[in-house]
Amino acid sequence: MKFFIDTANLDQINEAHDLGVLDGVTTNPSLMAKEGITGEKNIKNHYKAICNIVGDNVSAEVISTDFNGMIKEGEELASIDNKIVVKIPLIKDGIKAIKYFSEKGIRTNCTLVFSAGQAILAAKAGATFLSPFIGRIDDTNWDGIELIQQIATIYAVQNFKTEILAASVRNSLHIVKCAEAGADIVTCPLPAILGLLKHPLTDIGLAQFLSDHKKANG
Ligand code: E4P
Repeated sequence: MKFFIDTANLDQINEAHDLGVLDGVTTNPSLMAKEGITGEKNIKNHYKAICNIVGDNVSAEVISTDFNGMIKEGEELASIDNKIVVKIPLIKDGIKAIKYFSEKGIRTNCTLVFSAGQAILAAKAGATFLSPFIGRIDDTNWDGIELIQQIATIYAVQNFKTEILAASVRNSLHIVKCAEAGADIVTCPLPAILGLLKHPLTDIGLAQFLSDHKKANG
């Protein structure tokens, strides 16, 4: 399973990259706004700065909601760097745009996915990545992990090539459950990734080993 970090914050991207386990970055307009990145030029420069940190897979989301707008914007985003993956919402024109980019060899991340039916359409259109939002599903008293399992089953049975990119991950347990459910990728906030390190018995065990070594060696 690949690990992406879900942020536009360069310090956090650097920290996750330094850990040596980072495979990509996802952003969205809310995350860009949170970092105070505004205006077309600044937004493009920021995507370039992210691309300069990570090896590949930087999702940059279009703002347009019509086919022609998405194509123009997506092509501009893709021209920033060959690490860019054009992120497109699962709406009617979005599916058409994903098909267009798929035929042109431009990678896409189909976002705002909340059902298996939507996942089938995106795969048919040739999306590279599919982003089901598990945390937002949990927020509505449904089980986001169940959706990952269902899509993983469908994609395996149908031999779809689209990779399942579990998004809206809120905690470390989500990451473990996504791995179990068959997600190809998880995109998560930095604390959820770092949370995987934590176990009190690791800390207690390490303290004991170091103390025993000190007693024996002075
Ligand atoms: C990533 O692709 C999504 O935009 C993001 O994971 C959404 O997360 P949220 O539901 O925590 O905003």
